[in-house]
Amino acid sequence: MQETKIVEEHDIMQTFFEEEDYERARKYLARFEKLMTYYKCAMFEIETKFRVLSEAFSPQLDRNPINSIKSRLKTPESIQQKLKNGGYPITLDSIEQNLNDIAGVRVTCSFIDDVYTLADALLRQDDITLIERKDYIKNPKPNGYRSLHLIVIVPIFLPDEKQYVKVEIQLRTIAMDFWASLEHQLKYKKNFEYTQEMADELFTCAEMSAQLDERMDRLRSDVICEHEQDFDDGEQEAQEATDE
Ligand code: GTP
Ligand code: MG
Repeated sequence: MQETKIVEEHDIMQTFFEEEDYERARKYLARFEKLMTYYKCAMFEIETKFRVLSEAFSPQLDRNPINSIKSRLKTPESIQQKLKNGGYPITLDSIEQNLNDIAGVRVTCSFIDDVYTLADALLRQDDITLIERKDYIKNPKPNGYRSLHLIVIVPIFLPDEKQYVKVEIQLRTIAMDFWASLEHQLKYKKNFEYTQEMADELFTCAEMSAQLDERMDRLRSDVICEHEQDFDDGEQEAQEATDE
């Protein structure tokens, strides 16, 4: 049994090494890996930009505007699948031209305001080029999905070259993220029928999560107003005490 396996493996390897396309395939794989490295570096650049913005906004806002940052690179299997589904050629150029979400960065915030503050601050940076902006917060998807999506191009600096690379950014609140993760899990659950009743229920949950965001935003505004009022009163009292 073991011997048969060894012979079989030997035959496969033999064919593999004699294949004249082998060298071409190896070079192609190296180029694919290099391209993936560009996307990975671009992802790091965007993550760092958000970390820097979070630090910069923290003293002013008196809290950290970012709750979490998560990044992912699309796998070779899902790159191939997406190119096939879109009817695009399966080539490296085609990946660069037709796919915007090889590198993805997801930023979650506590409040809706923070989503826009961070997105605007990022887009004001002079090395960032905006390719596409989809505001599913102002215009939620029919299923109730909410998030702000940006496709940007960011330059990356490598030892001997500079490359411009696309990154998909999704910004959302914790409530939006909670809903989207659950909806995603349910939609892609194996051996499970996704019924219209469930879709309706999810839509209702999305509306509830939007209300939660609005109420939390109002609460935060009230706290800020009261804090500013206390601060002004305190300053006035201090001024009066100095005048006396
Ligand atoms: P894709 O081909 O999926 O990239 O769609 P698109 O190019 O039209 O982009 P869109 O901005 O609508 O969506 C991009 C990504 O947002 C998706 O890959 C998901 O990660 C996320 N997304 C969009 N719609 C939904 C949704 O209804 N539910 C969940 N859970 N995520 C969504
Ligand atoms: Mg996508």
